[in-house]
Amino acid sequence: MARKLAAGNWKMNGTRAALEELSALAQAHPDPSVDILICPPATLVQTAAATVANGPIQIGGQDCHAQASGAHTGDISAEMLLDAGATSVILGHSERREDHGESSDDVNAKTRAAHAAGLVAIVCVGESLSQREAANTLDIIGEQLATSLPDGCTAANTVVAYEPIWAIGTGKVPTTEQIDEVHDFIRARMIRRFGENEGRAIPLLYGGSVKTDNAAEIFATDNVDGALVGGASLKATDFSPIIKALEGKA
Ligand code: PGA
Repeated sequence: MARKLAAGNWKMNGTRAALEELSALAQAHPDPSVDILICPPATLVQTAAATVANGPIQIGGQDCHAQASGAHTGDISAEMLLDAGATSVILGHSERREDHGESSDDVNAKTRAAHAAGLVAIVCVGESLSQREAANTLDIIGEQLATSLPDGCTAANTVVAYEPIWAIGTGKVPTTEQIDEVHDFIRARMIRRFGENEGRAIPLLYGGSVKTDNAAEIFATDNVDGALVGGASLKATDFSPIIKALEGKA
C-alpha cells in the first residue's frame, strides 16, 4: 500500500504574509493520518520550514537544477532546497515543461539530482487536451514516465503526479473512469519497471482542479493515493477539507 499524501503547490503565489495560512493549516492538523506537504515559492522555503518545524507538515520546492552547483544564474540546486528545510521537490510540472521548455530528459536529470541530494522527487506527467482528444493519453503518459523517471526510483524517493494539462486551473476535472484508467496504467508501469514492492508503494497523486467538493470522489479511485493541489492549497480553509477527505480514505 502506498502512503497517502496531500500536497499543495503554491506556484508563484505568496509573500511572507502567506505563512499565516501555513500556521493555520498546522494548527488544524496537529496529528494527521496522511502526509501533508506544502511547496511554496523558493523565497519562502526556509521560513516555511521554520514555521512548521517539529510538526507533521513538510515543505517542498517547485523545481531544482540538474547540477549540484555552478554558473547557473537564477537556478536552485536540490542540495540548496534540502539545506533550506525542504524534503521534496516537484519536477516536470506542465507549467515548467511549457514555460521553460523542459523535456522529459531534463526531468530525468533533475530527478537524479533530487535523489542524490536526498529529496523526494514528485514527478509530474499529463496529456494536453489535443492529445486526449486524439486518444493518445496512455501513449503520452507511458512515454513521459519511461523517460522522466530514472532507474532506482523507490517508494521512499519518488511520487508520481498525474496532472492532465487541460484540468489544471480550469475547473475541468476528468471523469472518475478517466482518472481510474490512467492511474491503473501508471501503477502497472511502476510495478513493471521498479518491481512489485516498490511499484505498488510509490504514491500516485492526481492533480488538476482538485477542490473541497470533488476531493472525496477523486480519492475513492483505487490507485489515487492523494492529490497535488494548486489554487485550493493557498488558503488553509480550502486545503483543510481536502486533507480530511484523504484521511477519510486512509
Ligand atoms: P490546480 O493546479 O489545482 O490549481 O488546478 C494543480 C497543479 O498544477 O498542480
